[in-house]
Amino acid sequence: MKLLGIETSCDETSVAVVEDGRKQCSCVVRSQIETHRLYGGVVPEIASRAHAESISQLTAQALTLAGTSLSELDGIAVTAWPGLIGALLVGVNFAKGLAFSSGLPLVPVHHLRGHVAANYLAHAELVPPFLCLVVSGGHTSLVLVEDYTIFRTLGRTRDDAAGECFDKVARVLGLPYPGGVALDQLGQQGRAGAYEFPSAEVRGAPLDFSFSGLKTAAINHLHHAEQKGEALQRADFAASLMECVADALCGRLELAARESDATALALAGGVSANSVLRRRAEELAGRLGLPLYLPPLSLCGDNAAMIAAQGFYELRVGHVADSSLNAFASREIEFSI
Ligand code: KG4
Ligand code: ZN
Repeated sequence: MKLLGIETSCDETSVAVVEDGRKQCSCVVRSQIETHRLYGGVVPEIASRAHAESISQLTAQALTLAGTSLSELDGIAVTAWPGLIGALLVGVNFAKGLAFSSGLPLVPVHHLRGHVAANYLAHAELVPPFLCLVVSGGHTSLVLVEDYTIFRTLGRTRDDAAGECFDKVARVLGLPYPGGVALDQLGQQGRAGAYEFPSAEVRGAPLDFSFSGLKTAAINHLHHAEQKGEALQRADFAASLMECVADALCGRLELAARESDATALALAGGVSANSVLRRRAEELAGRLGLPLYLPPLSLCGDNAAMIAAQGFYELRVGHVADSSLNAFASREIEFSI
């Protein structure tokens, strides 16, 4: 079964063709990073317009690269939630048009389920159940993937996502958007532990996170250092922050793994590209004696291949929409149509 995937939830327009949820036949991604960098973050209106400009062309490209055509496909998968609403609507309406004109089933996909499914494209042996740490720019949660379309959230951030924490601190450090990537590069030359940050633990909720205190403390430190003219070891600061965030994430991942008797671990989402997090997760998996699945760096960020991959599993169980499909800015990963 071949599905077309469409992803427009944030600042990447992407279209892909994937076979049986596992084989990537094509995946084209047009990033808007250069445009949004001028503003230091994503401007939703600009993102929606850029999606509208690119989506038809990218669809034609994805089909050509896959050596296929609409008539040979079995479904149209599209990110319908969560994300920037205007951006999502471009993809959803485009997918509706394609589905209507071709008679193919329309499959709405949860963006975070898609991030989880990025692992299926790289690891043929990975099958649910497994425990997944989902870390992106907007979400941070510990999710039990009970089956391909059955998810249970064990813990989540109470405020900011890990990616948001990285992005905001990176911005004050003067690093270019998207800050997480630049922070990672900078920190690789630094010494972790040189700076201390408050814990991201939530009292009484051992599987939840809170990154806003850590983020604010880091930003305050930078502002005070600037005001007092104190020298700042930027690379050490970045390395220390990443270690602290990875420490919090892996600490909860360990607890959740022990409590849920998980038999495999995975990471998903943009922040799973972080070098410190990947190393720490590998150390943890080694200690627990569990296999760890990491998405390849090329599939950590937003892409349509992961949407088509998850779409395959959604279609298999009849999770299809009609022409009344709407987009939603937020929706739990547990939600099924
Ligand atoms: O999953 P994603 O591409 O978009 C959302 O669904 O939010 O995640 C984007 C986030 C941004 O916060 C970005 O700074 C972060 O992932 N990110 C990283 C790295 N690469 C991307 N954070 C830390 N280290 C990285 N190497
Ligand atoms: Zn994402």
